[in-house]
Amino acid sequence: MSAHSYYDRVKDAADAVRSKIGSRVPDVAIVLGSGLGDFAATLENAVSIGYGDLPHWPASNVIGHEGRLVVGDVRGRTIAALAGRCHLYEGHDARTVTFATRALGLLGVKTLLLTNAAGGINVGFAQGTLMVIDDHINLTGHNPLSGSNDERFGVRFPDMSEVYSRRLRAVADEAGKANNMLLPHGIYVALLGPSYETPAEIRFLRTIGADAVGMSTVPEAIAARHMGIEVLGISCITNMAAGVLPQPLDHHEVMETARRVRGQFIALLEAIIERI
Ligand code: HPA
Repeated sequence: MSAHSYYDRVKDAADAVRSKIGSRVPDVAIVLGSGLGDFAATLENAVSIGYGDLPHWPASNVIGHEGRLVVGDVRGRTIAALAGRCHLYEGHDARTVTFATRALGLLGVKTLLLTNAAGGINVGFAQGTLMVIDDHINLTGHNPLSGSNDERFGVRFPDMSEVYSRRLRAVADEAGKANNMLLPHGIYVALLGPSYETPAEIRFLRTIGADAVGMSTVPEAIAARHMGIEVLGISCITNMAAGVLPQPLDHHEVMETARRVRGQFIALLEAIIERI
């Protein structure tokens, strides 16, 4: 490996984070999906680091927010929160999209909570439903492990038979119960985007077993599993997928629903973090 291998760049970034947080190394991290970014601001005793202050750390351009990595406490536990993630549809390759996941892994994170906004394919869902991801279908056409494999991250052909940890899904159920929330489980399908799907595509996705559709999470989940990190995924069903309702989709609706259920979502995340 050259001195500037991907692994070395990730390690530089992880070392830079470590130098800013001292001994408070988090073992749990959360990636905040659309509309959830402010959760990072609720962390106690927080150290907030702009992505621009970390070497090689990719910036996300969505809605002009500067991305931040915040390390701080939730219910007495030190966690890392990522406000702002990169997406494949921005034109980043899958390794760039998973750079932050890799850096968190080298930092010492053992558990990764991935959150996202998603369209509801399962007609039993309503806008605002929070869904525990049981498994995924990767239809992005990308994989963060393509190209030469660096064994320091993991093996060439990693098992993906339990990407979303059974144990953590049960933890999510308990956390939901404690908050009187009905938490359905389902299959998340990831597409490249950024265009929303057509009604025909949604019928196809329903046929192959998908309950929710989105444009994130899957690359991070694959990279995390490659490194042996335990993963939990939660989708906020911000809208019914194309063709389910007789109305067009728009990003404002997505953001509006995410904002509406934000309080509930944060209560659930806190209850999960407490129980991990
Ligand atoms: N499709 C894809 N991604 C999404 C959607 C959708 O309907 N809603 C939020 N993210």
